[in-house]
Amino acid sequence: MDWEKIYSQAMHWVREAGEKIRSSFDQTLDIQTKSNPNDLVTNMDKEIEQFFIRKIKQEYSDHKILGEEGFGDQLESMQGIVWLIDPIDGTMNFIHQQRNFAISLGVYEDGVGKVGLVYDVVHDELYHARRGNGAFLNKKPIPLLEKATVKEAIIALNATWVMKNHRIDHNLLIPLARDARGTRSYGSAALELIFVATGRVDAYISLRLAPWDYAGGAVIVEELGGIITNLRGERLDCLSQDSVFAAKPGLHQTILEEYLKNGKW
Ligand code: IPD
Ligand code: CA
Ligand code: CA
Repeated sequence: MDWEKIYSQAMHWVREAGEKIRSSFDQTLDIQTKSNPNDLVTNMDKEIEQFFIRKIKQEYSDHKILGEEGFGDQLESMQGIVWLIDPIDGTMNFIHQQRNFAISLGVYEDGVGKVGLVYDVVHDELYHARRGNGAFLNKKPIPLLEKATVKEAIIALNATWVMKNHRIDHNLLIPLARDARGTRSYGSAALELIFVATGRVDAYISLRLAPWDYAGGAVIVEELGGIITNLRGERLDCLSQDSVFAAKPGLHQTILEEYLKNGKW
């Protein structure tokens, strides 16, 4: 498999898609809801996913595609080459703010992330990695991550998980939020993973993400020495929704052992 070709085509397509999104900013969006009134989708989410699928299928008819908006394939396994696409991660931000969203794309082989791209469309910042070849922001190499302590850490964490919610006992994450230097919430899992990868935050926790939310960012985080698992410390399988915990090396283990081990995640 010519991974260099896949990598450069993926980057080219992501930039092209970004251009389409930027030029949609002065058009009226068609906004619909999905599973609940706050689960939003626009015509652009759908158009961008279809754009990627056309490009990938034209070039690689045997590759499989898992896309958030459902235009790709139904996957039963991660065998072979699978593209995982979130055409707009942070749709609510896209609609309300026209910023703080990203295109996320991961290309996996037999369940192993080979290429990861997260494109911050508004800032024209493409974060990208090919496994074993370093990670970059546009053309600039991103340095490897260094260790951090909880008391000096900024943790990206949605307020939902420290308020009464139907998924977890909301008391479980309060000690971590209290002991950390600060918490942040940006509304785009792909960008939050990039913030871990670039050291802008030290860790990111979500109780429920879909594979397309984290597939691209995970490759970049791991390429820089960061660790990404579910909240039980297990490897993510890209086939199901799961909790996600990404952090700097060292800090990942400390948080798992000292703050997460008693939770039922
Ligand atoms: C959402 C964002 C958000 C996360 C949600 C995701 P979407 O993706 O990544 O930060 O908390 O769980 O569904 O719907 O905007 O692509
Ligand atoms: Ca998403
Ligand atoms: Ca999305």
